[in-house]
Amino acid sequence: MRIEALEPFFDEGLIESVIRQVKSGKEATVYMCRARPWTGGEFFAAKVYRPREERSFRNDAMYREGRMAVLKERDRRAVAKKTGWGREVLFGQWLFQEYENLKVLHAAGARVPRPVARGESAVLLEWIGDESGAAPHLREVRPSHDDAAALLDVLVGQVELFLRENLVHGDLSEYNVLFWQGGLTVIDLPQMVDPRFNHSAQRLLTRDLENVCRYFARFGVQREGRWVAQGLWDRWLRSEL
Ligand SMILES: Nc1ncnc2c1ncn2[C@@H]1O[C@H](COP(=O)(O)OP(=O)(O)O)[C@@H](O)[C@H]1O
Ligand SMILES: [Mg+2]
Repeated sequence: MRIEALEPFFDEGLIESVIRQVKSGKEATVYMCRARPWTGGEFFAAKVYRPREERSFRNDAMYREGRMAVLKERDRRAVAKKTGWGREVLFGQWLFQEYENLKVLHAAGARVPRPVARGESAVLLEWIGDESGAAPHLREVRPSHDDAAALLDVLVGQVELFLRENLVHGDLSEYNVLFWQGGLTVIDLPQMVDPRFNHSAQRLLTRDLENVCRYFARFGVQREGRWVAQGLWDRWLRSEL
């Protein structure tokens, strides 16, 4: 299989083949790739974004608000140096958002896939899973009550770590968390918002935590997403995270 958007990763010697398509959604298609041995990885996930005109629901003013301010502050020099990147940032491409968010969060020690490389319309990520396929979604996991309580703690801890980096996921649910070898990995980060510049951030934080608390309630773990969110938000406001 040869996918045009993945050619840069062949050219850079990062991947040697595309094994199969993992998932094709509204905004992106994810492929499982075989890594070249020197990279140290066995497989990579390649996420190919659809052209901007074809994308829909996330192309939403709520998520876009404050984005320029964020990027200006976060990486002004890079924008100035890499004109191509700066131009794409101006157009608000989700791909660049996702790559930057992954870089920041991975460096901060968050449980997100390591970003490996990016092209014009695709990003290459650490593969979560093994040769038989991608890790299951949290949705497919049936934890015991005790395991569910521990997993929810881990996930709330991740949301807290994101917020410490001034980021709110904005689309967090059991579908955007992978479960592998007993641990969680949060994926799908292009729409993250910065609460310093985005008025919807608190609402998105609350929705994210309500989603995950609702999911874990099925396994008998009672935690009120709303109050977890309020607690984190108050600490963030007081710079106590
Ligand atoms: N790093 C990864 N390793 C393995 N599988 C992945 C990885 N990233 C994404 N996937 C798979 O691809 C699917 C779609 O990726 P995601 O980033 O959630 O995009 P979207 O939901 O916007 O299509 C995920 O639900 C997961 O099954
Ligand atoms: Mg997703």
